[in-house]
Amino acid sequence: MQTAYRTHTCGQLRREHVGQTVTLAGWVHRRREHGGLIFVDVRDRHGLTQVVCDQAAAPEAYARAAEIGSEWVVQVEGAVAARFEGNPDLATGEIEVRAAVVRVVNASKVPPFEVARDLNLDEAQRLRYRYLDLRRERMARNMDLRHRVTAFVRQALNEHGFIEIETPILTRSTPEGARDFLVPSRLNPGTFYALPQSPQQMKQLLMVAGMDRYYQVARCFRDEDLRADRQFEFTQVDIEMSFVDEDDVMALNEQMFIDLCRAVVPDRPIRQVPFPRMTYAEAMRRYGNDKPDLRFGMTMEDLGDLFATSDFAVFRSTVDSGGAIKAICVPRLFSRKEVGELEEIVKAFGAGGLAWVAFENGETRGSVAKWVADVEPALRERLGAADGHTVFIVAAARKVAEDSLGRLRLHLGEALGLIDPHELAFLWLIAPPLFEWNDDEQRWDSVHHPFTAPHPDDVSLLAGDPGAVRAMAYDAVLNGVEVAGGSIRIHDSAVQQHVFALLGIDEAQARTEFGHLLDAFQYGAPPHGGIAWGFDRTVMILAGESSIREVIAFPKTVAGTDPLTGAPAPVPSANLDLLGLKVAPRT
Ligand code: AMO
Repeated sequence: MQTAYRTHTCGQLRREHVGQTVTLAGWVHRRREHGGLIFVDVRDRHGLTQVVCDQAAAPEAYARAAEIGSEWVVQVEGAVAARFEGNPDLATGEIEVRAAVVRVVNASKVPPFEVARDLNLDEAQRLRYRYLDLRRERMARNMDLRHRVTAFVRQALNEHGFIEIETPILTRSTPEGARDFLVPSRLNPGTFYALPQSPQQMKQLLMVAGMDRYYQVARCFRDEDLRADRQFEFTQVDIEMSFVDEDDVMALNEQMFIDLCRAVVPDRPIRQVPFPRMTYAEAMRRYGNDKPDLRFGMTMEDLGDLFATSDFAVFRSTVDSGGAIKAICVPRLFSRKEVGELEEIVKAFGAGGLAWVAFENGETRGSVAKWVADVEPALRERLGAADGHTVFIVAAARKVAEDSLGRLRLHLGEALGLIDPHELAFLWLIAPPLFEWNDDEQRWDSVHHPFTAPHPDDVSLLAGDPGAVRAMAYDAVLNGVEVAGGSIRIHDSAVQQHVFALLGIDEAQARTEFGHLLDAFQYGAPPHGGIAWGFDRTVMILAGESSIREVIAFPKTVAGTDPLTGAPAPVPSANLDLLGLKVAPRT
């Protein structure tokens, strides 16, 4: 990567370059003085090279090196020499450059944090000085990985006959379950564009347009509460295909995930290939959520039948009132204090308490030991509970029992070190319900989005029992994170109208908001379906990070702000006037 300023990058020189005269340019990573010698580690994105400035051999270079500080930009000319003692941790560790000339290209103020060391830095500070943060090795590595993943996916899709098509950012609302970001129109005062929550409608229109196989590395915008795996703007690998069923979409994407992992993280084992498929119903029953982490066991069992006639009023009344008694078996014993702490976790998710029994040296103890005596053999068999194990039980409304015990399972998986952080455990979550009941609004909501097709066997239930209708939808889950979601679409305007009606969207509203799609469906819509990868989440996991902010160059804080630019910011009132807007005080 020779340029006017350098012959090599700072990560390029090896033993075979010994004896060559080279020029490097980069940042001062670290500088150490050693009686008559100054060692300067010069860094760029590609790596780090040790430069030695010898007072006796090159007094001017030495004098320059004596002046420079961290993060100054320097240019160094000199001869490559073998090191007496190599550094095996460094790609350039076998060599050093003996400086003949050191030039200061640009000085730097003292940086607000040390770039050279991976300290526990304050995130706001890192984001405020993101250009310094990105100089750090870990971040440079993450950016490089992200780039390689994008390049890989683009190439794979190109080879599979897909074409990349850009869709508008200034568009109309596309519901994906979040709030829209709105952009006022200057030319049409009082009207607004919505930033796309996804390119969903456009990609379906592209199928009607005969594009057959579309993809886009697409930016999506959703105004929702931010978390470690959620940003307002995020990237999807968005895919749509014509003349396909669920297996076509899953098979193509599964192979891409496998090939991608083997290409970019070859040392990380994929737990199971082909990826297991699990129904939504089973995931809820066994894991308490729709994105099971399969890297460890401790799955939930239902104990309702064992306690249906129990003398223990709490359990029996739960069963009588249609609730659930769920249990997990943990291969460990806990102190009472520890159990108390674990109970707080389930209580935070709505459970009244955490019952437990422990099997220790042939004895059974614990808060409900007395009440399980009758059913102990059956309980132990169902859960595989042996000596040295503890069974935790939550009795509550089914949703609460599954959710709270599922959270406890995840907590214990982490806390007890049951998770191999290298492993990649994929699965397909299939057959989720098409609708969920919205109690506040007294209507059905889409679980995926309103364009998802009902399972053909369940279409007849649309009229009588919408809650029982399964969707032709699938999510890819990786290590407990939903990394992709998609579905086969409705391509029939009558079914689409029926679904809209159940969602409380009447004909007039459907026409106003989705008329373009309904119209398009009347001009020969092919059967079609697709998927979108949460690209940031995928890269996050491959990078071994636990927040997508670590793999996004310029993310927002969890408060939705950008400490670097100060966005969001007020605008001059003249700009508002131009848009016909007035900011009202918040009520
Ligand atoms: P969905 O809403 O499931 O589907 O989104 C697809 C994937 O995008 C990721 N994701 C996010 N990542 C970061 N920040 C967010 N705020 C965020 N929201 C979602 C998730 C998710 O699995 N149009 C459909 C796809 C389709 O049907 O083809 C859609 O957008 O990893």
